[in-house]
Amino acid sequence: MTQDLPQAGAVRPYPGPDAAAVRELLLDWCGADPEDAADAVRALGALDDAARELADRLYQSIAADMGGKKWLSWPKPPADHPLVGLFPILAAVPDMLAFHTDRGVDEDLSRRVLGDVGEKLRLNRRIYGRAGLDVAHWFTGHVRGALYQLGRLQFCVEGPDPKPFAGLHIRGEGGPLTLDAVRDSVEWALEFLPAVFPERYAGPEDLVFVCDSWLLDPQLRDWLPEKSNIPGFAALFTLEGEGDPAGNRSDLWRFVFGRPEDTPVAELPQDNTLQRSVLAGLKADVQWRNRFGRLDLARLGL
Ligand SMILES: CC(C)(COP(=O)(O)OP(=O)(O)OC[C@H]1O[C@@H](n2cnc3c(N)ncnc32)[C@H](O)[C@@H]1OP(=O)(O)O)[C@@H](O)C(=O)NCCC(=O)NCCS
Repeated sequence: MTQDLPQAGAVRPYPGPDAAAVRELLLDWCGADPEDAADAVRALGALDDAARELADRLYQSIAADMGGKKWLSWPKPPADHPLVGLFPILAAVPDMLAFHTDRGVDEDLSRRVLGDVGEKLRLNRRIYGRAGLDVAHWFTGHVRGALYQLGRLQFCVEGPDPKPFAGLHIRGEGGPLTLDAVRDSVEWALEFLPAVFPERYAGPEDLVFVCDSWLLDPQLRDWLPEKSNIPGFAALFTLEGEGDPAGNRSDLWRFVFGRPEDTPVAELPQDNTLQRSVLAGLKADVQWRNRFGRLDLARLGL
C-alpha cells in the first residue's frame, strides 16, 4: 500500500516538525500526556531515512486532499517506528487551522478535535504498554477538515457526493453517552455542517447521520444492565444489513477491554459492568457484531 502514497515532496515541501514543535503541539493542542509527548520526541529522533521518507509521503497524501472526505488509507506503521504516522499529522495541523479559518470554524473546535490525538496515544499505551499511534490514518479525517467534535459526538463528512452522509463517531473520553448529550451534539451538527459546507448541504434537511459500531448491536440489550446508556443510543438508529457474522473482536478488545486483539478471553479485564456484560456474552458464545444504522432524528425529538 505504501506504493499508493504520493512521492516525497510531491505536493509541497514536508514541514516535518522538530522536537520543540512535536512537544508543543502534543501538549498545548492535542491534550497529550507528558510521557507520550516525551516518547514522541524520542521517537522523532530515532527515525531513520526510510521512516522520514514515509512521514513525508504520508504528509503529501494529506496535502493532496485537503477538504476531502472521510480518512485516508495508510499502510500500517513499521514495527520499529510505531509513531511515524503522528509526525505528518502534526505537520498538517497548520493546514487544518488554515482550512478551519477559511471555513469560519472557531479555534476552540480546532483544539477540541485534536484532543482525540492525545486520547488515542493514551489508548495505545493502555493497550500495548508503550507509546504508539496505531490509528494515525484516522486523524487524516481531522486534519483534512472532514471531522469535527461537536459536544459529545464526532461528525465526519464521509458518504457519496453530492450530499455525503455524516458519519457519527464516539470518542472514549467525553463522558456517558446520554440521550441529552447525543441530542445536543446532533442539533449542533444540523446547524454546523450546512454552515461550514454550504456547497454540500443547503440546510439541515440535506443531512443523514449514520453510525457503524459495536454499540449498535441489539444483542447488547440482553446483556447490559438497565442503567446502561448504550441500548438507548442504539435504539435511535434504523439498522441496515446484518453485520459481519465473524464478529467484531478487534473493536471490542480495543474499545471495551483496552487489550491487544490476541489477548485470550480468560485474560480480559472485568473491572466494570460493561466489561463484565460483554465478557458474559463471549463466554455464552454470543457472536457480537458491529452494526450499521441510520439515525432517526424523530427518535431524538428533532
Ligand atoms: C460508548 C461509551 C462512551 C458508553 O459509555 P457509557 O454511556 O458510560 O456506557 P454505559 O452506561 O453502558 O456503561 C457504563 C459502564 O461502562 C464502563 N465504561 C464506560 N466507558 C468504558 C470504556 N471505554 N471501556 C470500558 N468500560 C467503560 C463504566 O465504567 C460503567 O461501568 P460501571 O457501571 O461498572 O461503573 C463507552 O463505552 C466508551 O467510552 N467506549 C469507547 C469508545 C467507543 O467504543 N466508541 C465507538 C467506537 S465504534
